[in-house]
Amino acid sequence: MQIFAHHVSTAIESSRLYRKLGEQVNKLEEANKRIAENTQRLLRAEKLSVLGEITSQVAHELRNPITIIGGFARSLLKKRDVKDPDYEYVKIIAEETERMEKVLDNVLNFTKPKESQLEKVDLNQIVDQTLDMIEGEINLDKITVMKYLHPDLPPVIVNPDQIRHALLNLFRNAIWAMPQGGVLSLTTKRKDNFAKIGIKDTGFGIPKEHIDGIFDAFFTTKPDCCGLGLTISSEIIKNHGGFIVAESEKGKGATFSVVLPLERSCSDGAPNL
Ligand SMILES: Nc1ncnc2c1ncn2[C@@H]1O[C@H](COP(=O)(O)OP(=O)(O)OP(=O)(O)O)[C@@H](O)[C@H]1O
Ligand SMILES: [Mg+2]
Repeated sequence: MQIFAHHVSTAIESSRLYRKLGEQVNKLEEANKRIAENTQRLLRAEKLSVLGEITSQVAHELRNPITIIGGFARSLLKKRDVKDPDYEYVKIIAEETERMEKVLDNVLNFTKPKESQLEKVDLNQIVDQTLDMIEGEINLDKITVMKYLHPDLPPVIVNPDQIRHALLNLFRNAIWAMPQGGVLSLTTKRKDNFAKIGIKDTGFGIPKEHIDGIFDAFFTTKPDCCGLGLTISSEIIKNHGGFIVAESEKGKGATFSVVLPLERSCSDGAPNL
């Protein structure tokens, strides 16, 4: 009887050990899978960063000749009469070079800000300056701009050119979404250690099926655009340790929130909000 009991308890113990072993093997397999996935991710990130370097070098090389061609095309256009048989051709050259300049500007603004380009700035001022930059594009008869800027917003350490560029893309999109007119509301707020800029329009909104794709490169619903605006804006803000969130419903306007860390280094990474 004692021997039988001993066998039973050994069998129970062995099966417990087997089960434990099985669990450990499963855990090891999962860990292995995660390591393999992370290695792939790292390799992809490295490839992307090399690609990014090459892209920005090529963009830099192309920027000057294209600006020169564009400059000549624009001055040729000014000198020509609309009835001139070459007018249309020169106009196309001017328009297309302008488009190329825009794409290159976007690509060049993609890169992580260098320490030397960082400045302590007032975000409210950046919002105002960006608004000044597109004043000419806003039809003030149709669009009302409302500003609710937090009076004591602490400064942020950023590359101001890049932040203006990121906001400009968002402001332009908002204006485009209100062809019949509407209200563009710009807000700045503080939330813990972060500053939040809100860009809200009362335009036609973003359909549910598009909202996940709008930050993807080359996603556009506009006939003459390249679909890079939001990709660039989001990359710029991420490079500053922040992020952009979009909320919208078809027919009910759109709100984009730009969240940036207050007084911290860009290398600290994105905040967990
Ligand atoms: N405020 C908005 N209201 C409605 N739709 C928007 C808004 N902002 C962006 N979108 C949608 O997201 C798409 C992608 O925007 P994004 O700025 O990346 O590219 P784009 O404006 O089409 O072209 P680009 O900015 O390169 O000139 C737009 O084509 C539009 O469909
Ligand atoms: Mg855009």
